[in-house]
Amino acid sequence: MTESSHVAYDTLIPNNVGLSSDRKVLKALEKWRPEFLNWWNEMGPEGFQEVPVYLRTAISVEREGWAQFGYVKMPDYRWGILLAPSVENRVIGFGEYKGQPVWQEVPGEYRSLLRRLIVIQGDTEPASVEQQRFLGNTAPSLYDMRNVFQVNVEEARHLWAMVYLLQKYFGRDGREEAQELLRRRSGNADAPRLLGAFNEQTPDWLSFFMFTFFTDRDGKMQLESLAQSGFDPLSRTTRFMLTEEAHHMFVGQSGIARILQRTCEVMKQNQIEDPSEIERIRQYDVIDLPLVQRKVNFHFSVSLDLFGSEISTNAANFFDAGLKGRYKESDIDDDHRLVDSLYPVLKIVQGQIETVDAPALPALNMRLRDDYVRECARGVERWNLIMAKAGIDFRIKLPHVAFNRAIGEFSGVEVTPDGHLLDDLAWQQQQDHFLPTEEDRIFLKNLMQPIRQAGEYASWIAPPARTIDSQSDDFEYVRIPS
Ligand SMILES: [Fe+2]
Ligand SMILES: [Fe+2]
Repeated sequence: MTESSHVAYDTLIPNNVGLSSDRKVLKALEKWRPEFLNWWNEMGPEGFQEVPVYLRTAISVEREGWAQFGYVKMPDYRWGILLAPSVENRVIGFGEYKGQPVWQEVPGEYRSLLRRLIVIQGDTEPASVEQQRFLGNTAPSLYDMRNVFQVNVEEARHLWAMVYLLQKYFGRDGREEAQELLRRRSGNADAPRLLGAFNEQTPDWLSFFMFTFFTDRDGKMQLESLAQSGFDPLSRTTRFMLTEEAHHMFVGQSGIARILQRTCEVMKQNQIEDPSEIERIRQYDVIDLPLVQRKVNFHFSVSLDLFGSEISTNAANFFDAGLKGRYKESDIDDDHRLVDSLYPVLKIVQGQIETVDAPALPALNMRLRDDYVRECARGVERWNLIMAKAGIDFRIKLPHVAFNRAIGEFSGVEVTPDGHLLDDLAWQQQQDHFLPTEEDRIFLKNLMQPIRQAGEYASWIAPPARTIDSQSDDFEYVRIPS
């Protein structure tokens, strides 16, 4: 068997990187493991550490049959280190070193750039576990509870993936960074997570589904760009992470779809035609469509900030050095160097939002963000089919990219979801129409009553179209002792 298809499960840390013959890294990881478990027990899903959960575990990196399903207590989950199979004779696909063989070791001059990239990606993984740690308590069904736990254990595995790279390739610095990844905490004033969206709360399930749709999708775009990396171990690691990531976005896409479907059903059953009859709609314990829109406005805009400034020298350096490519780099038909290329960028020019051509290299964040926006828009279109089919006159819209931004070109201005610039006073007066309010938060908080009966669902969400692993509709995804 080749190195990459064989996964060793007899070691403490399942892996396909030959850990048992890599004493130094094995020792570093074995030392890190109890610290990780302390972190998991302290910051992982609250209240459900001892119950069996029907989870999938990655057992292979082959396309078919990579996961195995079974009941596991979360602290016993087999967090492993799995790299996608290596591609023979792979060459760097872009930047200054285009056409040269990929690196199996860290190129000395890019050591700190590369470490920075890995640390930033690594930091988001435990952050989302921390953000979601109370959600089990209010799960709308055992199916949904299982899904959040699945997402959590996999994000934790992604942390392992990044920590492996740090410990294997970055020596003492890497080991220190691995500890810092467990020390920072989402929302903590003294040691916050590195990126803004990962310090926000995920207090309710509407937020959770929005997070997995919008924020995990940012993660996907970042992983796709890193999968192009000329540093081959990073490419192989992120390629396998993407396999798991697909489920996280499915949770978001289908979660919101089920909420919309349920609201539409209840509106029709009770002959409510106008989606803005909020009080009547909320009376049936379902989520009104304008509130879903306000949540979209919030989560989309916060996730856009994750792409960084539209114009960024870092982004240019990452690309030029062959460390981080573009989304689907190998499918793009150009010179993959971009030294003389231009890219259209949005800018504020004399009080107007305009498109201006900028040098393509420093505009790479903007380009990745555009790819992201297109993908989000496709998901939203699928949601809108639900309202169209129900004959309800309401469509979800992505807000303008300038709306509610804290980073980049639009951080200093107030813009409506339609893209109109507002002065401060007008913004103050209108922002309650655009973003979730305190009243919304309280409504959602009261709505989130846990459902623990197998096969039953909360009033505000439709059952899923399909079960997990072809189980029966009343399958007990989480075995909670009564
Ligand atoms: Fe992840
Ligand atoms: Fe994820």
